[in-house]
Amino acid sequence: MISLNSIIFNGMDATQIDVQVQLSSGLSKPEFNIIGLADRAVKESAERIRNVLSALNLSLPPKRLTVNLSPADVEKSGSHFDLPILCGILCAIGVLPETELEKYVIMGEVGLDGAIVKTDAVLPASVWANAHGLGLICPGDQGIQARWAGHTNIIAPFHVIQLINHFKGTQTLPVPELTTPESGQKNTIDMSDVHGQAAAKRALEIAAAGGHAMLMVGPPGAGKTMLASRLPTIMPEMTATEILETSTIYSIAGELTGRGLMSSRPFRSVHHTSSPVALAGGGSDARPGEISLAHNGVLFLDELPEFNRATLEILRQPMESGRILISRAKRNATYPARFQLIAAMNPCPCGHLGNAAMSCTRAPRCAEAYQNKISGPLLDRIDLHVDVDAVKPWEMNTDTTPRETSAEIRARVVAARDRQITRQGYVNAMLDGADLGQFAALSDELTNFLNTAAEKMGMSARGYNRIKRLARTIADLRGAENIEMSDLAEALSYRPINRGKYGVKL
Ligand SMILES: Nc1ncnc2c1ncn2[C@@H]1O[C@H](COP(=O)(O)OP(=O)(O)OP(=O)(O)O)[C@@H](O)[C@H]1O
Ligand SMILES: [Mg+2]
Repeated sequence: MISLNSIIFNGMDATQIDVQVQLSSGLSKPEFNIIGLADRAVKESAERIRNVLSALNLSLPPKRLTVNLSPADVEKSGSHFDLPILCGILCAIGVLPETELEKYVIMGEVGLDGAIVKTDAVLPASVWANAHGLGLICPGDQGIQARWAGHTNIIAPFHVIQLINHFKGTQTLPVPELTTPESGQKNTIDMSDVHGQAAAKRALEIAAAGGHAMLMVGPPGAGKTMLASRLPTIMPEMTATEILETSTIYSIAGELTGRGLMSSRPFRSVHHTSSPVALAGGGSDARPGEISLAHNGVLFLDELPEFNRATLEILRQPMESGRILISRAKRNATYPARFQLIAAMNPCPCGHLGNAAMSCTRAPRCAEAYQNKISGPLLDRIDLHVDVDAVKPWEMNTDTTPRETSAEIRARVVAARDRQITRQGYVNAMLDGADLGQFAALSDELTNFLNTAAEKMGMSARGYNRIKRLARTIADLRGAENIEMSDLAEALSYRPINRGKYGVKL
């Protein structure tokens, strides 16, 4: 019996799969069976492999060919078992040397002509193989991706013939060369593209510095989407660990396109018609959803009230834990989901509330109904609420004042983040209760000031903590140890939507 290695992922967890191939005699014509809790894509392997063998002018001997994928209690899905099964058969008929092939983890889909085509999860498979002292055989296109895991024993053929020739010694395949991670992933947008909007830019800087979730409210065309998409450009560069984490999720989702890793922070803009599964992840193969693809980056929800309420409620748990648990029929899969939430909305359905020239006759009742579509608990988790007014087009044309670049803003963000990590080990957005008492202590004078403001504004205990968290970040951006009156006053200006300029509950 031939026994080769492949791999399958459940969430981020790898399971080694033993691909066993057994030829047994006693039949007059060949028979081919795949067993071991295989799904349809895996069962279809048999058909693809038969075609490849005839394309290679190889025919199966008139024997019973059984392929068993072990352990049998783990569901096998996907087409990446084509290659290990084919290799097993080629070993069984003496075309490939089993003693060599068994030193590798093998994955790849095979086309009818023998071409080895792209598959999911090559990056984490490479990490796993490296950690277990095994080489990796993967599709040619993904060799560089596999190299990024720090692995050097990689064979990345584009065609089965290349693989056979490699082990025959007639055409040795080189180890894929490492390219620079930046390739093709440079930021092409910059904060300096945005004219005016000083208040919104300042709020984005605070959001980036303290990791705070943010909601922008304003009329159509004010530049909310434009501003949000530039947030990743002012966030600190990803660390090597973050790059690997995020790239791993993309690899599992089959979204690691190109040859580089995800070296820029992800920005995931989710449409309001998205389903809960698209947002959280799931489906038959427990794919990561948008919140996991936004891990270490930004999750942008444009037109927030248009989202289905049940879809939005999904965000509550991962916003606190930084992970999402996807429940499936037989097993659960967990993915990281530490994202920064940025949401945008118009104040009312027509978007022109408060604009005497353009708002409709149903204001403010329609605005109230519109704003009430977002649940209180979700709003409570958003620290920064910002009103974004439109810049007048003629002001944009005549605006010649130099605008700060993302790099300049990022330098301040990085300094403020460093202070937080040194002081408490995590970003200010995660400060709560007792932590705030310790790390965001207020003088007696400031406590009195905040208490009075809280009473006047009818602030909840949660809202009170929100102000302290924001004031802490604002002080960190000043490089200051203690929170001062100016920090507190600015924090108070980021009032929740229903109490801000566009609020209808004032
Ligand atoms: N402050 C600005 N500086 C430069 N361009 C701007 C600015 N505001 C708006 N624009 C231009 O207007 C376009 C529309 O802006 P954007 O899509 O960000 O608006 P929005 O607030 O998201 O609108 P909506 O509520 O309809 O989604 C931008 O792509 C940009 O070209
Ligand atoms: Mg928009």
